Amino acid sequence: MCGIIGYTGNDNAKEILLDGLSALEYRGYDSAGMSLFKNNDIITVKTQGRVSELSKKASAQFSEKTFCGIGHTRWATHGKPSETNAHPHGTENVMIVHNGIIENYKELKNELGNVNFYSDTDTEVVAKIIDKEYRKTRDPIKSIINTHRLLKGSYALGIIFADIPDTVFALKKDSPLLIGTGKNGMFIASDISAFLKYTDRYIRLSDGDTAMITKECVCVFAADGNKKTISEERSVKNADVTGKGNFNHFMLKEIFDEPDAMRNTFGSLTKDFLPDFSATIPDDSFFEDIGTIHIVACGTALHAGLQGKYFIEKLAKIPVTTETAGEFRYSDPILRENDLAIIISQSGETADSLAALRMLNKKHIRTLSVVNTPGSTIAEESGKVVFTLAGQEIAVASTKAYNVQCEVMLFLALKTALVKKTLTSAEVKNILHSFSRVFTDSIPTILSNNTPFRKAAEILSGCKNAFFIGRGYDNYSGQEASLKLKEISYIHSEAYAAGELKHGTISLIEEGTPVISIATDKKFYEKMRSNIEEVKSRGAVVISVCCENAQIIKEISDCVITVPNGTFAENPFTTATAIQLLAYYTALEMNRDIDKPRNLAKSVTVE
Ligand code: G6P
Repeated sequence: MCGIIGYTGNDNAKEILLDGLSALEYRGYDSAGMSLFKNNDIITVKTQGRVSELSKKASAQFSEKTFCGIGHTRWATHGKPSETNAHPHGTENVMIVHNGIIENYKELKNELGNVNFYSDTDTEVVAKIIDKEYRKTRDPIKSIINTHRLLKGSYALGIIFADIPDTVFALKKDSPLLIGTGKNGMFIASDISAFLKYTDRYIRLSDGDTAMITKECVCVFAADGNKKTISEERSVKNADVTGKGNFNHFMLKEIFDEPDAMRNTFGSLTKDFLPDFSATIPDDSFFEDIGTIHIVACGTALHAGLQGKYFIEKLAKIPVTTETAGEFRYSDPILRENDLAIIISQSGETADSLAALRMLNKKHIRTLSVVNTPGSTIAEESGKVVFTLAGQEIAVASTKAYNVQCEVMLFLALKTALVKKTLTSAEVKNILHSFSRVFTDSIPTILSNNTPFRKAAEILSGCKNAFFIGRGYDNYSGQEASLKLKEISYIHSEAYAAGELKHGTISLIEEGTPVISIATDKKFYEKMRSNIEEVKSRGAVVISVCCENAQIIKEISDCVITVPNGTFAENPFTTATAIQLLAYYTALEMNRDIDKPRNLAKSVTVE
């Protein structure tokens, strides 16, 4: 949520900042800007809209080579998206870029007294406080530390002072910020992908740290002003973030990546068709004697948690609670000593999920994270971490990450079932054999023919509202299907357990309302057929996502998307691919900005 990049070195700073901002654009894309040193002055360019626009503006401003600056891509929190509210913000003495939220910015603004503000942002207030402190102390580190003492909230800041050329300062609290150390210069960034092309070495800042970065060296100071010893780490992430290949959108490419992502995750977490977590959890006692499992996550990851709940309760017979992290962190959950908490996060940086993890750590509850990003804060701070091997996901709408998160949840359920002896090895092997068909055959089959999705998309694209219904794990798939459709097509939709629709919401069904029924669990075919009849008799147009053998569903549906016949260990996965394609082709039909839908950001690092 908002992306920060800063650079000082021998290379062309403008190009490096633009490059970094393009890599960070998934974090926010409603406006962008940068400030660079030019002839002993700071020059700032900003634009509403995309980094490509900023690039055009910057070319006109910076024809000569520049060596140091800070840049930002914004996801608006305080003040609407506009050029004025775009970062960097500041004064003639200091310019800053900021991720996060300053919760007490109103009080601080009042305390500043007779100062003029040109923007609606909380960031401008911080810049003006740093300026005031700097004029008082003439010491950049002191002025930043003094400012930090006044701020409440979460923030990562990149700062430059007009009279300290070619030096970038940084401050971090509860928002990600890394320092990249390269041969030809140093970087700051909210995500390593912004500088990975130039260096894989980085320094992790702790909360409360202030850093001073020149092209030759990095100094880090703790909140008490004392200099800290720093240690460099090396990224295991791959620098060559793949392009779109022959696909028109990252989202479609990432859906097509699913068989490989699932195969890779399968390879790393199973051995001879048995779950194998020994690389990160060598001792099976971790899975013993678990009271309740609490799954905590946000958005799509939360829906993967719901599928996980289904798998764990069915296979390991352990009660599972599933809660959105934004609520969990402020709730008073009943946690017992032998409970296990599982945090699921693609980015490993989601603010609410991280706060929930920290709360659980404080209470000494066993924590395990399912994360796609090595080196991320959630991965670093969890008791145990299991990595999904989806590779980087760039489209805002999460697709392949969801399927591998569900996959890991299945493996965790099977592992716990083995340790608890609720399943035998032979039964687990059987389940994993049937699961492996998902990435070897079933998903490739679904991907091979887009005609049913295009047909269904034609129906959906003319509508304002839609409803999803399903039972059991198909109900959970419906929750994710509804989110996917909303995110990228902007069609309002709601997902209901099929039996629940009649308790109020059915009053919204009228002639032509699309209802998407998800019916892949054989045991519910007849019940689902009745629910379909109920909505059809009130005028609904029914699109069914069902298995090939669901004859009684197919014959009463207006439009059918089939997935190969499968078991409970296959259907949630094949359905996921199908509903992602349905959302994709609907958004395509409606000419939406599929990879960067309005108002959204991929990594949500504010509450
Ligand atoms: C944002 C993204 C979603 C994602 C959610 C949780 O809302 O747009 O796609 O599911 O954050 O993100 P995480 O990185 O924690 O999985």
